[in-house]
Amino acid sequence: MIALGNDHTGLALKQEIIKLLDEKDIGYRDFGTYTAESCDYPVFGEAVGRAVASGVCEKGIVICGTGIGISIAANKVKGVRCALCSDCFSAEMSRKHNDANVLALGARVTGVGLALKIVETWLKTDFEGGRHVRRISLFSDIENR
Ligand code: RB5
Repeated sequence: MIALGNDHTGLALKQEIIKLLDEKDIGYRDFGTYTAESCDYPVFGEAVGRAVASGVCEKGIVICGTGIGISIAANKVKGVRCALCSDCFSAEMSRKHNDANVLALGARVTGVGLALKIVETWLKTDFEGGRHVRRISLFSDIENR
């Protein structure tokens, strides 16, 4: 189950991502926003972050204009590793090396075609484990200090 969240700038891209998830028969839960009315991205970044950190959803995708604000918000939730990606290589590496559990996209930065490729890449790539497990565990250490 993929948690989805966005502000008003990310609405159209989220709808394209939903089409992709439907095509691939991947379940999702949409935490809003649901309209084009101007709203505050931290609300939706936090909602997705909490859904992922609590285990309600396995992964999340968050979208705002640049992807920056909503990724910062998601990363404030303990247990979230949100990666802002605007290319497929970063998306792949964020899964392989960082075990990113939330993907952030900038709807005003990344075109729809590339954004969908990034989502596909990110969803199909597994964490490599090995030496990266120790590094990921150091994130938790930071959170607990
Ligand atoms: C909204 O205007 C914009 O600030 C927001 O979508 C995002 O880009 C913030 O980081």
